[in-house]
Parts: sequence; C-alpha cells; structure tokens
Amino acid sequence: MCGIVAYIGKKDAYEIVVKGLKRLEYRGYDSAGVALLTDGNLNLYKKQGKVANLEEFTKDKDKSGRVGIGHTRWATHGEPNDVNAHPHMSNNGEIALIHNGIIENYDSIKRELLTKGYTFQSETDTEVLTILVEDIKKNTNGTYAESLRLALQQVVGAYAIVMISKENPRQLIAARKSSPLVVGIGKDGDFFCASDATPIVEYTKKVVYLDDEEIAVLDLDDGLKLYSIDDVQKTPYIQELEIKLESLEKGGYDHFMLKEIHEQPRSITDCFRGRLNAEEAWVSLGGIKEYEQKMIDAKRIIMIACGTSWHAALVGEYLFEDLARINVEVEYASEFRYRNPIINEDDIVIAISQSGETADTLAALELAKSKGATILGICNVVGSSISRITDAGSYTHAGPEIGVASTKAFTAQVTVLTLMALSLAKKKGSISDTKFRTMLSELEIIPQKVQEILDINDKIKTISAEYKDATNALYLGRGSSFPVALEGALKLKEISYIHAEGYPAAEMKHGPIALIDEEMPVFVIATQGPSYEKVVSNIQEVKARKGKLIAIVTEGDEQVKEIADHVIEIPEADEHLIPLLATIPFQLLSYHIAVMRNCNVDQPRNLAKSVTVE
Ligand code: G6P
Repeated sequence: MCGIVAYIGKKDAYEIVVKGLKRLEYRGYDSAGVALLTDGNLNLYKKQGKVANLEEFTKDKDKSGRVGIGHTRWATHGEPNDVNAHPHMSNNGEIALIHNGIIENYDSIKRELLTKGYTFQSETDTEVLTILVEDIKKNTNGTYAESLRLALQQVVGAYAIVMISKENPRQLIAARKSSPLVVGIGKDGDFFCASDATPIVEYTKKVVYLDDEEIAVLDLDDGLKLYSIDDVQKTPYIQELEIKLESLEKGGYDHFMLKEIHEQPRSITDCFRGRLNAEEAWVSLGGIKEYEQKMIDAKRIIMIACGTSWHAALVGEYLFEDLARINVEVEYASEFRYRNPIINEDDIVIAISQSGETADTLAALELAKSKGATILGICNVVGSSISRITDAGSYTHAGPEIGVASTKAFTAQVTVLTLMALSLAKKKGSISDTKFRTMLSELEIIPQKVQEILDINDKIKTISAEYKDATNALYLGRGSSFPVALEGALKLKEISYIHAEGYPAAEMKHGPIALIDEEMPVFVIATQGPSYEKVVSNIQEVKARKGKLIAIVTEGDEQVKEIADHVIEIPEADEHLIPLLATIPFQLLSYHIAVMRNCNVDQPRNLAKSVTVE
C-alpha cells in the first residue's frame, strides 16, 4: 500500500516521478503528491484522488527540477484529503519526505514534538517522522541523512522512505523496514527509488533491493552508499531486472485486468516452462529441490497467505493431500501470526504471495522462522521481501500483475502448487506412473483449454448482463472447486461491489439457503468428477427455492443443462486441474459485471494490490 517514487539526476524529475506514480497507482489511489527541488526552492503539490487529479492541479505550476519525490497514498492515518497527502514537509521547510508504512509510536513522538513548539498540518504519522528528523537535526547539528538515521532508531513500525533536503540538493536519502524499496542505478550517474521496479525499468535494469533497516544515500557526486541503521557501511548488491516494459502497458485492452485474464494461456505456460516434460515424464522445481525430502518427511506443511493467494493455498491443500498424501494446514497469515501457533522445527511453512510483500504474510513467515521451521515461498514478484527471507521457493513467473483483482497470479500459483504436488508425489511414490504421466500431459495442454474458455467470452458477457443488477450472489463448489467458489465470490465483490459469498456446496443448507429467492444468482461449479452427483443435488435445492442458477459444467453435460438457467461449458480435464479452468469464467463474469456497473475495474475502491500494512 502506498507507492513511492523518487529521482535525482540530469533529467526532468516531475515527468519521471509522475509516470512512476501511475505505474504504482495499484498500490493506493486515495491521493497523490510530488515535491521538487529547484533553484533552492522546495515546491510541493498534493491532491486528493488519483495521479490524474495531481496532473490537472499542477498544469500551470512550476514543475522544474532535477530532484523529485512522489507518493500515491492508501490512507492509514488520517482521511484521504489534500493535507494528509504526501510528501510532508518539516516546519522549517527544509526537507520533504514520502513514506509507505506505519509509524506505530507516532502519537507519543508527536506529543513530545508539540511540547517543543512544532506544529502539524496533517493527521499523518509521516509528518511526525518528518518533524522528528528536523528536531534531531536541530539538536545534533549533523546532516539530514544522519538525523534520519537517528530518527529511525526511535520509531516503531514499518517504513519505506525517501527524503530530500534543500541543504543537499544533490542527494536522495532512502530507508526501509518491512515496506519494499528498490534503488535504480541510472546510466548517467542518476538514481531512482520506487516501491517496486516498475517505475524504474524503462530507464535502467540495474537495481539494488534495500534490506530491512538499511539506509541508502544516493549522491550525484559520491554515488550510492549503503548503511545499516546502526551506521555500519554495507556493500550494495546490484541485480539485473528482467521485467519487460510491454508487460506494464495495457497492450490494447480496456483494462489491465482484462489483459491479465487473457494472458493466462501464456502465463501458465511460462510458469511450467522448463519445469515439466510430459514426454519424458518428469517434473522439477529447481528452487525447492533440496527441500523435497524434508517436505515429504514433514509431519505437516502449513501454507500461509492472504486474499486470493489464500484461495490458491486451499487448492494446494487438496493437491498435496490427494496426490502426495502430505498433511497440509492452510492459515490466514493475519490470524496465524497472532494466535501463538504451535510451530515445530520439522514444520515446513510455505508462504504464497503474488507481491511477496504482504505485511501479514511476511510477519507470519518471520515468526515461523524464529521458531526454527523451514520457510518456503511461492511469489510472483522477483526480488520481493518474501522471496528474499525464505530458505527456498518457486517463482510463479506470471509477469507483472497490475489489476488490483488478482487473476493470472492465482492460476500461476495453482500451477506451481500442482507441479510441487506432482513432484512430491512422484518422489514419495504416492502416485502411479500412469496417473503421473497422464497428469503431466493434461497439465501441458491446460493453456489451450484456458484459451478455449477465453474464446467464449462473448457468451459469458451476455450472461453477465443478466446479473449486473444483483445485490447478492452465492458461489458454490465442492472439493478443490470450493476454493474456486471462494475466489469467484471475492472477484465479484472486489470489483463490482456486489455482496457475494463462496460456500462449500453442501454447507449451503446450513445457512445461505435462507437467502435464496428468485433474485439471487447462484454460481455453481458442477464439472464431471467424484462429487458431480452431489453437486447436482445441491443444484436441485437451489432451483427448488427459485434461485437463478449459473453452472460451470464439463463440455457435453446434459443433466445440469436441464435444470440451470445458464451453463458455461469448460473442456474436460482431470479433476485436480479443474480449478485452473473453472476460475476463468468467474474472472470474466466479474469483469463484465463490473464494467457494466461502471466500476473502476483496475482500481476498485478502498483496495490496494500490495498490502504492506497489517
Ligand atoms: C490484496 C490484493 C489481493 C491479494 C492479497 C494478497 O488484498 O488486493 O489481490 O490477493 O492482497 O496479496 P499477495 O501479494 O500476498 O498475494
């Protein structure tokens, strides 16, 4: 949550910063602001709402300057208005600071600063930090970089920060703890900072990911210097970015979400490329290979995640248990970390996270690590915090996902979990050779089957039109289709603001059935498989109460067609692979319904893609 961008060099800072903010807008869009250093002046422009509002506001303003910082906000402390927008300035007008994270002890610091006569314009924790830096500088007479370092020793919480000062207009000072921050090393001796690499990639591929409690001083004369918060100089580890610029553009689609839904045949293929060969009958996840025996021997594997990634974990539980006969527990990271969970040294904890930055998931992993468990990760963003703290892991290789509602990241997570389950099952001997080969061949052709579903987009759009005015919706599934139902409901509520709930089909009669009437759309996954007949019975129960029934069925199904109001046919596949297919129509339905309701599909209200606060 919150996106930060900064630039220092020979180019026009405003353009780079604002373009970067647009790339980071998925992290929050409550307000946006920039601060520019030019000829000894510090110009500050802030506006509630999206970056476009800020651009409109700055139309006739002085936007010159080769040093700039910018911020797009997801409000935590203080309502989203112009004053609470970042950057924040010190009382003496000397420094401007942007921050992503939460300063938990801001209140006590603020009270002390108030007694010293400082004044505050906003309700934010960030302004408190800015003024704390000013106060330390006043008392110590050191540099602003040094004062920031000392201030950070006093604060409790999470931060990614960039600060500029009039005192040293040839310097950016950046710091991080628990919130992500990347430094880009430009080709002309210039520097970039951002919450992720997307604002940087078009200028340079050379980056340094800051670690917790590191401070980077980016100086046009002195280059990049890295320090710990205790003032120990460190050697920066420079990495090469692999992101392609095209992957950050809409590429002709109306929305990133639609583009990302349509990318799935390719993203799933990218996910298993080099990891699976059906002809030679092998599957191999290099990243976790040396941990496989430990996973097999583990009494249990705990999968932790949030949001959509938690749904992927639930699919993973079915796959691991059924194919590899390994005991799996799935936990919400936010609950796990505060529950005083029993964690043993032989436990394996797998964190699943698209961004690799979700604060609760990260903290839950740290807890597990501190108790001696082996921690593994399944992340999409290369170089993210989770991928760096884990003992090992597998990337999903879905490419950047910009739409706030996760689509291709989910199918890629499920693909990795399927590969892992198959690899473990093979090693353990819990799967027959024939079944193993069949599943590999089936997995290899899943991208084609996903494409076949995408090809019936028009039909799905027509069905969507019938339900665009619904106020409630129910999603039902059994077995590994239950998490797909949860995910379907989440997609609908996230982007169309229709209240939706996912339920195990059989549980419906313990509550939600009371809600069913002729107004209520019920989306059911009724594909061929062991629980088909049971789901058909649940469908009858819905119809008996006059609910509107939209069923996802296997191609050629006749029985459900008779009963349902609409059927969406998907290609036949092994039951373990159904989640990869059944989720696609739900993504498209949610997308079309949201568009028809004039909702902002890529940036739904109150949400953010990367949740770096708990
Ligand atoms: C936010 C996003 C969701 C995502 C969840 C977990 O709520 O809007 O799309 O599923 O965070 O994020 P992660 O990056 O850990 O998968």
